[in-house]
Amino acid sequence: MSHLLEERPTAPATDATWWRQAVVYQVYPRSFADSDGDGIGDLPGITARVPHLRRLGVDAVWLSPFYPSALADGGYDVDDHRAVDPRIGTLAQFDDLVTALHAAGIRLVVDIVPNHSSDRHRWFQAALAAGPGSPERERYVFRRGLGVDGERPPSDWTSVFGGPAWEPVGDGDWYLHLFAPEQPDWNWDHPDVRADHLETLRFWADRGVDGFRIDVANALTKHLPATLPSAEELRAADLPDGAHPYFDRDEVHEVYAAWREVFDSYDPPRTAVAEAWVPAHRRARYASPLGLGQAFNFDLLLARFDAATYRTVVEENLRFARDAESSSTWVLSNHDVVRHASRFALPPGTDEKAWLLSDGHDPEPDVAGGLRRARAATAFVLALPGSAYLYQGEELGLPEVADLARADLQDPTWLRSGGTEKGRDGCRVPLPWSAEGPSHGFGPGGSHLPQPSWFADVAADRQDGTPGSTLEFYRTALAVRRRLQTVEELSWVEGTPEGVVQFTRPGGWTCLTNFGPDPVPLPAGQVVLCSGELGSDLVPADTTVWLEDEAGRPSA
Ligand code: NOJ
Repeated sequence: MSHLLEERPTAPATDATWWRQAVVYQVYPRSFADSDGDGIGDLPGITARVPHLRRLGVDAVWLSPFYPSALADGGYDVDDHRAVDPRIGTLAQFDDLVTALHAAGIRLVVDIVPNHSSDRHRWFQAALAAGPGSPERERYVFRRGLGVDGERPPSDWTSVFGGPAWEPVGDGDWYLHLFAPEQPDWNWDHPDVRADHLETLRFWADRGVDGFRIDVANALTKHLPATLPSAEELRAADLPDGAHPYFDRDEVHEVYAAWREVFDSYDPPRTAVAEAWVPAHRRARYASPLGLGQAFNFDLLLARFDAATYRTVVEENLRFARDAESSSTWVLSNHDVVRHASRFALPPGTDEKAWLLSDGHDPEPDVAGGLRRARAATAFVLALPGSAYLYQGEELGLPEVADLARADLQDPTWLRSGGTEKGRDGCRVPLPWSAEGPSHGFGPGGSHLPQPSWFADVAADRQDGTPGSTLEFYRTALAVRRRLQTVEELSWVEGTPEGVVQFTRPGGWTCLTNFGPDPVPLPAGQVVLCSGELGSDLVPADTTVWLEDEAGRPSA
């Protein structure tokens, strides 16, 4: 097997299509690396770990919010979109990070959170102070409450995190928050809101940021009629596309058309990727080159590890991406879901929320099987045309920390759901860089979420240089991908054994995944990657293998 790790050139600054087949690594800053020992990851911590990212072989880093925030929602409650949280660093340290990443040939994508600000934002504070009917309140979605003194909410809508979506401010007005009460929704009909976001995009683009990940890109614009439908009416109504009062409205694309002008005013154009949980047929407009340019496809976050499902997801998404003149995205883990090494450790159909409530014991996960399937799935998506988004720690094969104590939970979901959902903290526990030392090398102090003792076994330093480790597997996979990923084409190999998905890529690259329980014959070709242990001429269950045809032709 070839372990060729090519020396990478610094990324050409003018390549306008770098994002189409990029491997983008998500850094959740508070949990990545802590330089000053306060238990919270920071920008210098990330800069110090750029060699890890370079060695891993990623093309870009997506940085989750690092802006000033009370952390009511892990930083997605932004006080000031053009500043750095002092606990995380300074603007100068941000510039240092950009410089270090670019010197390593790695691009930087930052998170933009345009549906809401935090309740500490200066404009929200001004709106509270100015009172009902004031121009300051028009920048947000304020409504008079029902009842004589506005004592009842304008509607019974619930927020995404549970509980009511309206919060009273004590003077008869209520404001809309689709997420936590600390995240008031902007009024996107207001010119100040539009202009302020354009300024934010330019601010970061001017500092060298290469692209943007757009949070809840399918919200923003709203159309709230004088009489609001009830939650039940909204659910029951068979609304045509674009007719929901606050999700996936067509007008949102006018916002992104204006953003596109900003992106295209830079050389190379800045990129964007939409976080839009919309039906697949609605994704194209977000991914259009006239809009954000690319959209997340979360289908594999929801898919079971199964041959037919994976093939269908890939076929559909390649078609959608082509129709949108974009490239597809592939995501197995992020900061909002149970890590895929754990998802695949559970029997298909397991209710993950109930499993987390059982502290990860009901059912007991098949840890080894979960990791085997996770690595197979990773190798499968890395062989696909399009861009792959990796989440920090998956290169260590980290499972979910499912047994965090209730008292340690930070996710607003925990309280807002009345203790019926533990939320997303289990995938946000600070990374184990070393088996020994304070906070497993996360930093010189503690860690803002407790790390389990088993983190020592999966720490990066234990895996570094260890043949067969997940870290070495990711490094090899990314290096080989860099060499083989060419045009965005894929051809399915038909007639494979049951439970097997096999495809070829131009340039003589074959990928075979055995989703089934029994070993299957290894196709012809030179094996360049295997997600697990390979028999001499058999591919075991839950395993992906990449083969290269030595003549540079597809080997199947
Ligand atoms: C999506 C983000 O990924 C999630 O972490 C956040 O809670 C919501 N948007 C609200 O901003």
